[in-house]
Amino acid sequence: MEITLALLKPHVLRNTYALRQLKALIASNFDVLQAKEVRITKEISECFYAEHKGKFFYQRLTSFMQSGPCYALILQSESCIQKWRQLMGPTKVFRAVYTEPDSIRALYGLSDTRNACHGSDSEASAMREIGILFPEFDVTRIRSSQ
Ligand code: CMP
Repeated sequence: MEITLALLKPHVLRNTYALRQLKALIASNFDVLQAKEVRITKEISECFYAEHKGKFFYQRLTSFMQSGPCYALILQSESCIQKWRQLMGPTKVFRAVYTEPDSIRALYGLSDTRNACHGSDSEASAMREIGILFPEFDVTRIRSSQ
């Protein structure tokens, strides 16, 4: 069993319908180990998106993530990382709309920055990102039970 960090971005939380649909989709596909609304501070956004520092969209991305509450989840299933990324669709919303029209980003993404959701891209990223948003969660408990 694998775990991943899923994050629903601020504009999704402002859309009650989208939030309800996505929670139902997640519950039918994964075991939700933890879930909470989080305020992404400047410090958290800079740490979370450190690998993008210096890119043209970095400022836009970090300030958008601070613009309202996000919803963070720790998901578990077989091939969880790949499965959540498949449900999200491509990062770029125009590509999602054309290639994966039923994906979350195609349905609820507004732009490349406001692309509705995030998912860890590897096991190492999942551990790092869970550590940032769920510092109280003991990832070694999952590892030792595998
Ligand atoms: P996310 O999965 O949160 O990981 C990095 C984020 O950077 C990505 O989703 C997008 O929100 C954002 N991003 C990536 N590429 C671009 C881009 N070309 N223009 C604007 N934002 C981008």
